[in-house]
Amino acid sequence: MQQTLKAIVEEAKNAVSELAMRADFEAYKARLMGPKGSFTQIRKQIGRVPKEDRPAFGKSLNEVKTQLETLLAVALGKIERAEIASRLGPALDPTLPSPEAEPGSLHPLTQVREELCEIFRQIGFVVAEGPEVETEFFCFDALNTPADHPARDLQDTYYLPEDLRFSNIPQYREERYLLRSHTSTVQIRAMLDQPPPLRIISPGRCFRRDTPDATHSANFHQIEGLYVDKNVTVKDLKATLDYCFKSLLGKKAHTRFRPHFFPYTEPSFEVDFHSGHLAKVGTEWTEIMGCGMVDPSVFEAVGYDPEVWSGYAFGMGIERIAMILYGVDDIRYFYQNDLRFLHQFD
Ligand code: DAH
Repeated sequence: MQQTLKAIVEEAKNAVSELAMRADFEAYKARLMGPKGSFTQIRKQIGRVPKEDRPAFGKSLNEVKTQLETLLAVALGKIERAEIASRLGPALDPTLPSPEAEPGSLHPLTQVREELCEIFRQIGFVVAEGPEVETEFFCFDALNTPADHPARDLQDTYYLPEDLRFSNIPQYREERYLLRSHTSTVQIRAMLDQPPPLRIISPGRCFRRDTPDATHSANFHQIEGLYVDKNVTVKDLKATLDYCFKSLLGKKAHTRFRPHFFPYTEPSFEVDFHSGHLAKVGTEWTEIMGCGMVDPSVFEAVGYDPEVWSGYAFGMGIERIAMILYGVDDIRYFYQNDLRFLHQFD
């Protein structure tokens, strides 16, 4: 029987060196170690071995088993390496020239954001930032949005669990955290941070419980503007926005104000722009943003004296502007990272 064991090992050594495919390997492994395999058959005969020889035979069985398993593992490793190499193609040739470089470029939303920031920088605005995780105070209370205002509805805003706290995002009192639904939050943080006068622009990511479709996304971007000084009027606001859209779309572009309501501005307006000439933008008036004169209650919430200070504020969606500028008809293209789409903005 010892002879047979030796023969099995010898035979296995030859056989595994021939194995090139995984299927052959599995078939051979079954012939050797499977229920009817040659090694299995021999193992079963241990009962027939005289009692005194059994320990020695058992030991040999174990040794042979280890040898066979090692042979099989080595053979399988060889097959797997060959499989990987065949998938990767021929070995790397370091003497060949490298493939054409594919430099990255800025995402269209980043390009629009940078362009808008630059337009406002030129007239003295500085960029201010605020956290994306916010609290009810900065998103609503301080912006004169009372607790029963529809914008505070759970439908619109992503609230975080009541007991969750973020040590790096200061609350005003003990109010609840949420994901900011607009960048107007940064107005409040900036005014609490620094005394007037103030000129800030604040681009950033916002979140709303919206079902995505061609014009909605649960995660989108806005740019907020805030100007606080003495004797600021609607005329200043109109002139600034006219300048902004002329810079963005050309000298013929102009804006139109329609009365509207926002809790944090009084009076409030929606702004339409008319490109004047850009064919791809069309010849219609297009609604583009909200704005107004800062409501005195907002100044009071941040400790600015509304008898002394006045100001305007505005907020616009970056996606919306990018869609109009580039003639993109579905907001979802911006988030799919499809290079065929993105390369058009290189
Ligand atoms: N927060 C508004 C929105 O998300 C946009 C807005 C309107 C911002 C008027 C303002 C403003 O600062 O004065 O739709």
